[in-house]
Amino acid sequence: KIVILDFGSQTTQLIGRRVRELNTYCEIVPFNKFPFGDKSVKGVILSGSPFSVNDENAFKIDLHEIRRNYPVLGICYGAQWIAQSSDGTVDKSDSREYGRAHLSVKETGDLLLGNVPQQSQVWMSHGDTIVRIPDNFSVIASTEEVEIAAYKVKDEPTWGVQFHPEVFHTEQGNKILDNFLAICGCRKDWTPASFIEATVADLKETLGGDKVILALSGGVDSSVVAVLLNKAIGKNLTCIFVNHGLLRKNEFETVLENYEHLGLNVIGVDARERFYKELAGVTDPERKRKIIGKGFIDVFDEEAHKLTAIKWLAQGTIYPDIIESLSITGTVIKSHHNVGGLPEKMNLKLCEPLKLLFKDEVRKIGLELGMKPHLIYRHPFPGPGLGIRILGDITPEKVRIAQDADDIFISNLRAAGLYDKVWQAGAILLPVQSVGVMGDERTYENTVALRAVTSTDAMTADWAHLPYEFLAKVSSEIINKVKGVNRVVYDISSKPPATIEWE
Ligand code: XMP
Repeated sequence: KIVILDFGSQTTQLIGRRVRELNTYCEIVPFNKFPFGDKSVKGVILSGSPFSVNDENAFKIDLHEIRRNYPVLGICYGAQWIAQSSDGTVDKSDSREYGRAHLSVKETGDLLLGNVPQQSQVWMSHGDTIVRIPDNFSVIASTEEVEIAAYKVKDEPTWGVQFHPEVFHTEQGNKILDNFLAICGCRKDWTPASFIEATVADLKETLGGDKVILALSGGVDSSVVAVLLNKAIGKNLTCIFVNHGLLRKNEFETVLENYEHLGLNVIGVDARERFYKELAGVTDPERKRKIIGKGFIDVFDEEAHKLTAIKWLAQGTIYPDIIESLSITGTVIKSHHNVGGLPEKMNLKLCEPLKLLFKDEVRKIGLELGMKPHLIYRHPFPGPGLGIRILGDITPEKVRIAQDADDIFISNLRAAGLYDKVWQAGAILLPVQSVGVMGDERTYENTVALRAVTSTDAMTADWAHLPYEFLAKVSSEIINKVKGVNRVVYDISSKPPATIEWE
């Protein structure tokens, strides 16, 4: 495997995804947690960082041991740190670059730049520049502004690149990373099929004849875990799918049907009444989230207790949930977990077979397992569901309105071929009534806001620029068909400063 040492860059996860796309397993670890002694490490990539190497509190480590043992590729800050810690000079300079730049290869025989054309576009994002390299370093590529855009350490498999090979706008980025993997001697045999084979074998061995329980959400992660476990242990897996009454229209029935079709052993629990009762009159978004979260755990726990001899709780945790993130304000390192509360309460062992995968890999595994694209490419949908898309208090009547409006929006997105072009979409029921006129009658009814965004990771998002004609069609269909709505608006806020959900 490849180890990616994280110095806090926003693109560290992207480096990981690119390496995985090249069928090579990699792990992202905090810069100060190198797995010395791990025999499976074949090479090391040093990420960028929000710091300057000249900052007092910059993340720094001694690279001697790592450079002695493995091929190393430093990216941006990583390249600067290798240079500076070898007696080179890094400085704030006039020759900083942001965005596109043109790379010219200076040393054609270099392995890292093998088959990279003489000229290509790269993506830069740096305030500091390496202004001097030690004598045993040689410049292998430059841009107009930056002489030392890429270097190689002589007689040592260590390289540094000032640009970002992991970003899409670096045309030869994949080639460069691929060259580095070849230098490391990676076999490139990390594929969906090999993952499934190894994981199923591993699950069989770890779980043996034990019984496992899993909470399905209808989303891709938990669904893929279910199919994978079903393949490994069959009927020893019991899935529980809770209807908290805040799912999309007909979602409970269709998803349940899909699951049964996949041969899963699923218990569907209709707990709508209970959730509506507990949510009655509650308007604060965080209180609603807490009530829904706790209600979910309680229902799940009750169902689990009806079963006997359950030993494991399976979860759809994925890699971004567990990568330890570096706090930029200090060196405190915290870890994230997907679902709080359940494992502690139930006293079960945790089984998280997808915890080392990125989302796009989970999708590939799902397709390889024969799951329908319809199930694999669903938009993300929040756990509390429509509970946070009905602003203010929740009533069954409001749920009906929100479901009907959402259903019209989503069906139209699918019909217009726009569904896969947006990251997620939905209708929000606002606690706002306004005057309208239908026929000869004055109306005083609800407002629905449509929200659709484009994004790659939900951390930032832009409002989707949907065609006016499309919005017009959805608007009139909602107002004509959904009783209780006389006005539709479209949300044109980006994240930040807004968020994707309204609550
Ligand atoms: P925001 O609104 O923070 O949403 O921009 C980012 C992503 O997270 C989803 N989201 C949630 N998912 N429980 C969830 O499981 C929640 O309470 C929750 N709130 C937001 C949101 O749909 C988007 O994909």
